Amino acid sequence: MKISFVQPQKAKGIAILVLHPGSKKLSVEQKRELALLDDKIGFSLEGEIKRRSCKREEGEIAVVAVPGKSPLTNIIVGFSAFEPTAERELIEKLAARAQALALEESTKHIFIFSSLFRESKESAACIFVEAALLARYAFTEFQSETSKKPALEFQFDSSVSLKGARLERAASIVAGVSLARDLVNTPPSNCPPRQLVARAKKISGKHAVTSKAFSVPQLKAKKMNGILSVGRASKEPPAFITLKYQPKRKVKKGTPVIGLVGKGVTFDSGGLSIKTGAGMETMKCDMAGAAAVLGTIHAASLLQLPVVVHGYIPTAENMIDGNALKPGDVIPMMSGKTVEVLNTDAEGRLILADALHYASNDGCDVLIDLATLTGSCVVALGEQYAGLFTDDDELAERMTAAGTSVGEYCWRMPLAKEYKSQLKSKVADIKNIGSRWGGSITAALFLQHFVSNVKWAHLDIAGPAFMDSSSGIVPAGGTGFGVRLLLKYLESLAQ
Ligand code: BES
Ligand code: MN
Ligand code: ZN
Repeated sequence: MKISFVQPQKAKGIAILVLHPGSKKLSVEQKRELALLDDKIGFSLEGEIKRRSCKREEGEIAVVAVPGKSPLTNIIVGFSAFEPTAERELIEKLAARAQALALEESTKHIFIFSSLFRESKESAACIFVEAALLARYAFTEFQSETSKKPALEFQFDSSVSLKGARLERAASIVAGVSLARDLVNTPPSNCPPRQLVARAKKISGKHAVTSKAFSVPQLKAKKMNGILSVGRASKEPPAFITLKYQPKRKVKKGTPVIGLVGKGVTFDSGGLSIKTGAGMETMKCDMAGAAAVLGTIHAASLLQLPVVVHGYIPTAENMIDGNALKPGDVIPMMSGKTVEVLNTDAEGRLILADALHYASNDGCDVLIDLATLTGSCVVALGEQYAGLFTDDDELAERMTAAGTSVGEYCWRMPLAKEYKSQLKSKVADIKNIGSRWGGSITAALFLQHFVSNVKWAHLDIAGPAFMDSSSGIVPAGGTGFGVRLLLKYLESLAQ
């Protein structure tokens, strides 16, 4: 990423600016900047906007082409929003549009009139850079004819003081999100459990992260039968990965140790309770929780966040052969509880159960699991909201606030004790499915059976983990959902 500071007269490529309702409110400095811009393009921008009968509604965007041979090809005007969440959304929209237009116009330059942002210019500039880089993401590894998108060059006017560290933060966050997106987008046969093991090792090569992986003999020795059972019909053996990020910097006393648990089903065929063809189409995304954990720990280590973070990834491929797990089978889980499997497509909870039990006894104060766990959560909340399940109000609030501040929304759902009896089994301690209704809740209640002595939150990300089409800074395919939310949450603990 290249950054430079230039006078508005020297701006090239695409220019971005924000106008507030009623331009009378412009400061002298802002008026001067707009006048400089008008001089440069040879017409009145305000006049052009008026001519277009722009409604100037909050969040609206207008793209003005600059005629002639100006080094500035276009100006993108955003109409400002006051509230911080709305301003962030507007900046993200501008950034996504700007980088797309830059591609069309074959320019790599984006000039930001930062004097026109309402909030802190520095943070607005950083949001812009982060958003533009996130929007520029593309997964092209398996396309034969791709022209690489050129790296963007951001130009700022000198009214903004941008510290290198703030921009590096943006780059680290983007690296974490991109890693998570890449892992989800990789075809399932190219990303079996051993591939997740390899990626965890790669992250741990540097920056205060260590990782270990249990292979089948160790899983057997530890009686991790949930993971073993789900993975047993696959040619690709299951595994359990642990990561530890221990910052080199001193951690403030009292900062909780955070454990992140991610569902790593690298492909979910449903097993013998097989999915339909259409239902399987996107099931390479069933390791998005694991990808979010890897992306978060990667970024946390780049950012050197002063929080100890553990990662736990149970990973398996849910397949079918003569040895497959059958409906009716009973699994003696690592925790000692027995589970009657009535639907082999409810496999995520089986591998997470062992992981949550292990993590509960591994020195964490808080456990957060992320899982593409239920279609029923998508029915309830749609694709833009993750379901958040926890009995801890403070944790719920912190996570919701962290998500809202980065546009990764979650909505609290009940761990309804009224539905606990749905998991009663006639032959084992519990069964792995409830009734047809409230499926995301009974799934969360199932997980709760395996958590002990720690604060715990479960995020069902089946909706937001994967998108059919792109929108704003979120591309089609793997979204990397959770990485930015978790990083914000971790940062909030360190403050
Ligand atoms: N991986 C799926 C959930 C899922 C569905 C993720 C759609 C992303 C998009 C999960 O393993 C599953 O199959 N869940 C079942 C549970 C049911 C059998 C109780 C479901 O939601 O139908
Ligand atoms: Mn399934
Ligand atoms: Zn699944």
